[in-house]
Amino acid sequence: MKILLATQKPFAAEAVAGIKKIFTEKGYETAVLEKYSDNSELTGAVSDADAIIIRSDKMTPEVFDAAKKLKIVVRAGAGYDNVDLCAATAHNVVVMNTPGQNSNAVAELAIAFMIFMSRNQFTPAAGSEIEGKKLGIQAFGNVGCLVCEKAKALGMQVVADDPFVCADKISEGGAIPITSLEDMYSSCDFISLHIPATPQTVKSIGYDLITRMPKNGVLVNTARKEIIDEDGLEKALESRPDLKYITDVMPDNYEELKAKFGLRVFATPKKMGAQTKEANVNAGLAAAHQIVNFFESGCTKFQVNKNK
Ligand code: 3PG
Repeated sequence: MKILLATQKPFAAEAVAGIKKIFTEKGYETAVLEKYSDNSELTGAVSDADAIIIRSDKMTPEVFDAAKKLKIVVRAGAGYDNVDLCAATAHNVVVMNTPGQNSNAVAELAIAFMIFMSRNQFTPAAGSEIEGKKLGIQAFGNVGCLVCEKAKALGMQVVADDPFVCADKISEGGAIPITSLEDMYSSCDFISLHIPATPQTVKSIGYDLITRMPKNGVLVNTARKEIIDEDGLEKALESRPDLKYITDVMPDNYEELKAKFGLRVFATPKKMGAQTKEANVNAGLAAAHQIVNFFESGCTKFQVNKNK
């Protein structure tokens, strides 16, 4: 049995060692493909793999066509918009994610981003504090819930909107449920985005929502680049010189935004949210265990392409 660990953005060494150990103990072979620059390298490496662990690596129809022996893909992480589920299903490949395993890392980054922007990216100009400010969390899943917990510990007021989570669950998680997204944007000093990229959410955050934010509002995106209407964001930052945007998923128009808005925008060069040793170990080892359980007992818990 050959397992490919394909991570364009490499895991911490401990995570790689832990994954290899799990597979070695089962008599499986592990191949590692890291820091590759072209998807053709992934297509080549996957050709004789029975299983693959990925992060944001792109599992395109071409990759599935080349993966003649592939039975399972585990996305070590939450979002699986990088996997073509139709192609996977057409090739009888099971796709799983590892929900919750990297959430704490992302939540910590969202909080750090709020402080970083409130302190003018750590330049000497007088900044502001997040205590007492109002935070709106858009989507109250694993990450949103943890952001809420941490923000409350820092003295923020927290409201949340999630059409898929009932008001009671949001309250139990410590946030005040809000029924209208528009109201949330209008009333919150900070908005933290935790929605996946789906046909319904792509480009859903644009000028109209962003410009609803009160004076000095900060929009924090540790979710996906695609959910932002980038032209709308640019227009909003142009018409409202008090608003700020920070993200770990670099917008396509980042250079332009940076040139126009300076310290009011910030993006990390690579997606950073889940890039901690702990998150790598949690998600990587969970992925390895899921593969072993799949091959040993047919377990398909966490499969995301069951009905596709
Ligand atoms: C996720 O969906 O789990 C996060 O966005 C992390 O993605 P990454 O593994 O590419 O850092």
